[in-house]
Amino acid sequence: MSNALFRTKKVEQSILDTEEPEHALKKSLSALDLTVFGVGVIIGTGIFVLTGTVARNNAGPAVALAFVAAGVVCALAALCYAEFASTVPVAGSAYTFSYASLGELPAWTIGWDLVLEFALGTAVVAVGWSGYVASLLDNAGWQLPAALSGRDGADGFGFDILAAALVLVLTAILVLGTKLSARVTSVVVAIKVTVVLVVIIAGAFFIKGDNYDPFIPKAQAVPAGDSLQSPLIQLMFGWAPSNFGVMGIFTAASVVFFAFIGFDVVATAAEETRNPQRDMPRGILGSLLICTALYVAVSIVVTGMQHYTDLSITAPLADAFKATGHPWFAGFISFGAAVGLTTVCMILLLGQTRVFFAMSRDGLLPRFFSHVHPRYKTPHRPTILLGVLIAILAGFTPLSELAELVNIGTLFAFVVVAIGVIVLRKKRPDLHRSFRTPWVPVLPILSVLASLWLMLNLPAETWLRFAVWMAAGFAVYFLYGRSHSRLGRGQEGSVGQVIKPDPGEGR
Ligand code: ALA
Repeated sequence: MSNALFRTKKVEQSILDTEEPEHALKKSLSALDLTVFGVGVIIGTGIFVLTGTVARNNAGPAVALAFVAAGVVCALAALCYAEFASTVPVAGSAYTFSYASLGELPAWTIGWDLVLEFALGTAVVAVGWSGYVASLLDNAGWQLPAALSGRDGADGFGFDILAAALVLVLTAILVLGTKLSARVTSVVVAIKVTVVLVVIIAGAFFIKGDNYDPFIPKAQAVPAGDSLQSPLIQLMFGWAPSNFGVMGIFTAASVVFFAFIGFDVVATAAEETRNPQRDMPRGILGSLLICTALYVAVSIVVTGMQHYTDLSITAPLADAFKATGHPWFAGFISFGAAVGLTTVCMILLLGQTRVFFAMSRDGLLPRFFSHVHPRYKTPHRPTILLGVLIAILAGFTPLSELAELVNIGTLFAFVVVAIGVIVLRKKRPDLHRSFRTPWVPVLPILSVLASLWLMLNLPAETWLRFAVWMAAGFAVYFLYGRSHSRLGRGQEGSVGQVIKPDPGEGR
């Protein structure tokens, strides 16, 4: 039994699987495409929305340090991801990597976890996008009925029609093909980066030194309330729940971590990359580095423009310009943010369908979902199924707690990937690695510790929700995946053959 749970898929098999014509994706992306892809998904709700919330509630101007802390955690993880991605260049990201190194159950766990990360992440960003679009419509004098503009403004029924519509339109674009969406992505990424640079350069002229005083506000006790909302670490050690101070920086880091999510998505596109061995590490590390520099600059500028206690929690970048008397800049930033969040949403959705596709191709989810479209060569079935589910989720669900749930899921994936690097080096030292993580096992161990540290700074209730989701995943695995696994059924022997769907599949 334990052997079955930890059976591993051979790396060579993972690569061969991608060559079955009916289950193969087009290989068309370059390193530049990947970097654009990365920046396209990384810069989003995190910097455009969470910066203000976190500066106000947890860290003050030291939110810039929170970005550095979260960036370091991601850089450590990125170095591990890059080795895995260049060794196992097939769809599925951490899921595929763990199948090749840790075994089927850990791989299932991580795949299920990534579904959570990407699906909820897509929903969070879609709702953020909808807020910016609603505000632009409002400028033009148009307003949606409260019942169709989300839950927050509505009495009783509330459905965020804009967020849901965005997800459905993006689903259609993805079904038509990755290359098309990558092209659209590059234009939108250019707009988004321009907006961020405008915030940094124009905003620098409106900085007042006084606003940085204090840079790290003194720790403040949190009024007694629902203890489940306190970071787990504070509950574990019986510390009095507090905000700000040095610990506030880490609480902030565990939230703004959301702003970095996405570099791991680059790895999910390995199978569609022309030369994954060389381009994957470049794409992942390049996009991460660019974003970290931009985040630190933006947060320093914005907290310098307005005192952190005055920052807006819905549109802090635009509102800081309004507060300094520059509404034109504010309008431009809101427009760019709305455009930019579109790509974030699309790439998260893409990552999500690719993980689902890979799990289905391995038989852990029904094989029905791993057929590529005969004409568009995209996994249209999971794309449509998940697109519709996420649209409903984005329409009906409030987002702040979802972001924390996305973070815990992603950090957990980082932990598994870092352990996987060590295990794969031991089990398969022979494999060609065009990118090797430096200082193994020290660096992966540091990555595990750093990710765990941020996880511990998330609220206890986030841990509970995460546990419930993972428990549901185990139920699905033991009721379906374990017995349908292609690896378990010995279908690995059919190396290189075209695997036709069962007659019963697809019904
Ligand atoms: N990193 C992405 C964002 O900030 C998910 O929205």
